[in-house]
Amino acid sequence: TRRPAATTPGFYSLCSPPFSSACEQPMGSPRIVGGNDAKNGSWPWQVSIREGSNHICGGSLIAESWVVSAAHCFNGDKSAYHVNLGEYQLQNPSESLVSFPIKEIYRHPSYTDIGSSGDIALVELETPVNFNRVIRPICLPASSVEFPAGMECWVTGWGDTQYGESLEAPKTLQEVQVPLIDRDTCNSLFNTGSYPDDPQGTDPIKQDMICAGYPEGEKDACQGDSGGPLVCEWDNAWLLAGVVSWGVECARPNRPGVYILLPPYADWIQGYVPTIPFTLRRYGGQKGVWG
Ligand SMILES: *[C@@H]1O[C@H](CO)[C@@H](O)[C@H](O)[C@H]1NC(C)=O
Repeated sequence: TRRPAATTPGFYSLCSPPFSSACEQPMGSPRIVGGNDAKNGSWPWQVSIREGSNHICGGSLIAESWVVSAAHCFNGDKSAYHVNLGEYQLQNPSESLVSFPIKEIYRHPSYTDIGSSGDIALVELETPVNFNRVIRPICLPASSVEFPAGMECWVTGWGDTQYGESLEAPKTLQEVQVPLIDRDTCNSLFNTGSYPDDPQGTDPIKQDMICAGYPEGEKDACQGDSGGPLVCEWDNAWLLAGVVSWGVECARPNRPGVYILLPPYADWIQGYVPTIPFTLRRYGGQKGVWG
């Protein structure tokens, strides 16, 4: 067995005052494959990216007019898409549902194709959203944060519940708890056995990726969850650890879901959203705000 990655003693996150307290409240505990119906309002940063009226991807609200999603979700012009917030069941529209056109989409320039690094995008909403009980941002980890292997995190979305099987009506937001798997361990899993649509070559898990799930499969994100959040609770705050990026089918043995890590992109995000100051959190210690 493999030694788990070292746990960082200091845990820093960046979120945006005056709303930092919004992302620091524990949300109560509670496709996604092997998951359960979420409670209405449990994951208030979860958004649905629409192309026309179709749900194509998930995303996470990080500030009043900013959403993080995956680069591979966007191929067309920004006018082809819009962002829904405050949604719970896709076929039973909530009173809280609000829909926003997109001002700009910034795909990370290092992204080339499924399985490549940099599968992350920033989506700027046409106008800022008002936060409420069911629409609130998630905290972002600073670049120094390392998420420890074995940490139990959650992935949420309206994606397929099996490979090739879409979420059944009324399409209630799904949640599933999955432990983090470090890059080396995950590469060994991916180097085990073979699947028809395996990515090329050995060690497909790049520097900016982390896996989550089980060696035996069974619980995972799936088609339609892309761009959505992998979140971990730490010291009474939820942090966005990763963005759903790719997988080999869904919930297969030795093929856990692969996520783009947020810490390597903290500076890139801050370049577009400079008003996001750093909130300093030290696990088990005091908090403060920088800048
Ligand atoms: C979820 O809660 C919000 C806020 O209380 C409410 O507006 C919305 O209608 C609820 N949605 C469903 C499907 O119950």
